[in-house]
Amino acid sequence: MNIENTAVYLIGFMGAGKSTIARCLCSMYSLQLVEMDETIAAEEGMSIPEIFAAKGEAYFRSQETALLERSGQPGAVISCGGGVAMREENVRLMQEKGTVVLLKASPQVVFDRVKYSTDRPLLNGNMTLEHITELLEARRPFYEAAAEVKILVDGKTPEEICQEIAAVLDDRC
Ligand code: S3P
Repeated sequence: MNIENTAVYLIGFMGAGKSTIARCLCSMYSLQLVEMDETIAAEEGMSIPEIFAAKGEAYFRSQETALLERSGQPGAVISCGGGVAMREENVRLMQEKGTVVLLKASPQVVFDRVKYSTDRPLLNGNMTLEHITELLEARRPFYEAAAEVKILVDGKTPEEICQEIAAVLDDRC
């Protein structure tokens, strides 16, 4: 399978590099980017923490599912929010429409990347390696079950990760 013949859904924990890798894949292979968090924030006219505060997490989750329903044409790279793979309906949609690729980062790498960020409501007020480790461990089975392709990202450059994803997809034809 060639990368432009599928929709690539990038899943994984916050800070695993989904947005960076999505942008890199799009520029390396001329694909179309769908950045879920940015799209939802733009549609709502609010940041993600503002949406959580004003409308609640359940509303945000329903917007994620609605966005998955109307995106995912071949040649798209969808950078999913870190919670997308927790919902069965979302996983079914992604698996039907394209290829689900999990970016796997260690808790320490995640922590180092997100520790100064304030735009992730699930970490705000609890920005510790312990909390990240716990949440990541609780989510790991969902990520692993949803993904067809799993890529370890620690210590690799974005270009190396993109080449690895493209090579795995090529091998699958
Ligand atoms: C979330 C991850 C965030 C964002 C929201 C909830 C999660 O996206 O969708 O804060 O539940 O893991 P990133 O993974 O892009 O940070």
